[in-house]
Amino acid sequence: MALTGSAKSGEYKDLPEAYELEERSRPDEMAMLSFAQHLATQSLNDVSSAAVLDLCCGTGLSFEEVLDHPSVGVLVGIDISPQYLAFARNKFETKSVQPMLILGDAVTTPLPPFTWDVVMMASAYHHIEDSRKLAFLRRVRALLGTHGIGIIAENILPEYSPGDRDGYARSIKTFYDAVLETARSSNPYLPRHVEMLIQRVAQYGYDGEYEYKVSYSIFLDDLSRAGLRIVQEVRVWPLSGPVGADGGNYVFVVVPDQAEDDRVHLIKKDLSP
Ligand SMILES: C[S@@+](CC[C@H](N)C(=O)[O-])C[C@H]1O[C@@H](n2cnc3c(N)ncnc32)[C@H](O)[C@@H]1O
Repeated sequence: MALTGSAKSGEYKDLPEAYELEERSRPDEMAMLSFAQHLATQSLNDVSSAAVLDLCCGTGLSFEEVLDHPSVGVLVGIDISPQYLAFARNKFETKSVQPMLILGDAVTTPLPPFTWDVVMMASAYHHIEDSRKLAFLRRVRALLGTHGIGIIAENILPEYSPGDRDGYARSIKTFYDAVLETARSSNPYLPRHVEMLIQRVAQYGYDGEYEYKVSYSIFLDDLSRAGLRIVQEVRVWPLSGPVGADGGNYVFVVVPDQAEDDRVHLIKKDLSP
């Protein structure tokens, strides 16, 4: 299942302006980023000098509201793209709290030894290759210790049978058809080059390159194998029923399995009317 040559040319990998344009043109993504940051800032209200970590922080879209919270003492972002990090450095240079931006691999690069209050992961898990997803989530569990919460904002594909390539491609198509429909209905004049950028994201998924999205059941299985537990789950898009079975954009709050506190009850919400 291939897109046209012209769609493929709508590149955004390591091109921060194209990435931000694509994201800001997608109501599904902005709803997810905004809700993830809302949960992060809510959790910071009762802390002081908080330490926040953003894994796969990119251009900083996933932490820009968090950085302004008065409780933030330190905010560390890590990403593998020097171009995205340079863009982020420039974007936040006038902020009173400067993000500490580290160039590296979110699975293996050493991080400063803070006691993290919040670990943000917005569109992070689906950028980690399937063979390393478990190592990534195990690292997250270790980083959270007994104290922190993890906030995972993820595009979840409609269910498909693991290993079924055609089913996987159909799930990607269903997901991105809905993404485009949402973007077009919020902006009937959505420029063609923006549509091409959105289609390029889908193409990464078909090609198994740069994007490795999964279904809800695979995600849950990975979390449980990594020793992480969901304490809050909100599906923020689409607003009228899931995309296929269980597909959509979700924000999950996770803690290590063994965390014993008042976070034990699961809050599960769907923002559909
Ligand atoms: C879709 S962007 C998300 C960026 C940001 N969290 C946001 O929500 O806007 C995914 C990011 O993951 C980064 N990335 C991909 N693989 C990575 C890895 N192994 N370690 C760190 N960053 C990685 C990419 O460079 C890209 O910035």
